[in-house]
Amino acid sequence: MPLACLTDFQAFARERLPKSTWDFIEGGADDSFTRDDNIAAFKRIRLRPRYLKNVVNVDTRTTIQGEEITAPICISPTGFHCLVWPDGEMSTARAAQAAGVCYITSTFATCALEDIAATAPRGLRWFQLYVHPDRQLSKQLVQRVESLGFRALVITVDVPKLGNRRHDIRNQLDLKLNLLLKDLHSPKERTSMPYFQMSPIDSSICWNDLSWLQSITRLPIILKGILTKEDAELAVKHNIHGIIVSNHGGRQLDDVLASIDALAEVVAAVKGKMEVYLDGGIRTGNDVLKALALGAKCVFLGRPILWGLAYKGEDGVKEVLNIIKNEFHTSMALTGCQSVAEINQDMIQFSRL
Ligand SMILES: Cc1cc2nc3c(=O)[nH]c(=O)nc-3n(C[C@H](O)[C@H](O)[C@H](O)COP(=O)(O)O)c2cc1C
Repeated sequence: MPLACLTDFQAFARERLPKSTWDFIEGGADDSFTRDDNIAAFKRIRLRPRYLKNVVNVDTRTTIQGEEITAPICISPTGFHCLVWPDGEMSTARAAQAAGVCYITSTFATCALEDIAATAPRGLRWFQLYVHPDRQLSKQLVQRVESLGFRALVITVDVPKLGNRRHDIRNQLDLKLNLLLKDLHSPKERTSMPYFQMSPIDSSICWNDLSWLQSITRLPIILKGILTKEDAELAVKHNIHGIIVSNHGGRQLDDVLASIDALAEVVAAVKGKMEVYLDGGIRTGNDVLKALALGAKCVFLGRPILWGLAYKGEDGVKEVLNIIKNEFHTSMALTGCQSVAEINQDMIQFSRL
């Protein structure tokens, strides 16, 4: 039976993957309240369609940081793609290139950055950085990324410490034993540097350190994980180029707002001075439309990409992207939008339930 929606891929992946891998992908932090609320919150928003508007030609294209994408649906950084498919991130990169969307490659990628860039040379790629306590290593990595043609640096701010993932504790998951994180290694050393030396994330990083990052790269800097107006205003003050409103798919601090519920506050705070994106809980074309109506320029998918990868590698990710892009096209037509620019706040209302 063909798979018809993103949750069909979820069911397939659950069957196919070993339990510890499935739990690692699917799990949230603590009670997984925020992970589940990311999905539930979209269902609290209702659509207000407009009819008789000629939707023969619906155009889903848009831009992010000045670059065209075929739809405002891109790929969030997730680590360890080789856990679910043999050539992991390389398959993901090819699928993103074929779909004409942006792929944010994680610091915890399990293929070398050189190989990811080479396998999809025309694809739009951003790089997600966890700043390492050894700033020299981070600097080398940023320079490597820039020379490989990645077009933006995404700094994930919501992991000063890893969230409490109970299922990984119960499963005694040890990613170190399974995989080498090749992207952290210099090209020469990339198979010899042990994971445990390379994996720490700098918990001392502060707003003032952003100027250091800005001094070592010409790439636009985007902060991923901002949830409040206070931090959004600081991002404007520090000349940041974009924000991804995100709670890490509910894997870091539990009991925070669902991403979609935090979006309007951040959009209002930046006053149009930078693009605002969103990830967390996007599963349908209607979800994409709701996020854009609340001011997101584009959304990103986390787990659904891994479900597609587990299904059929590159082809599975292509199918996931294709299905949600088609759903979004339908959502636009059925609400009376010819172009992404027409999507606005009047198209939604919050349900009283
Ligand atoms: C298995 C897994 C690994 C992840 N790895 C990273 C990572 O390396 N860096 C990062 O910034 N976010 C990471 N995330 C968070 C995602 O970028 C994203 O915020 C989240 O998955 C979006 O929610 P969704 O899964 O509901 O789409 C990871 C998420 C998952 C599920």
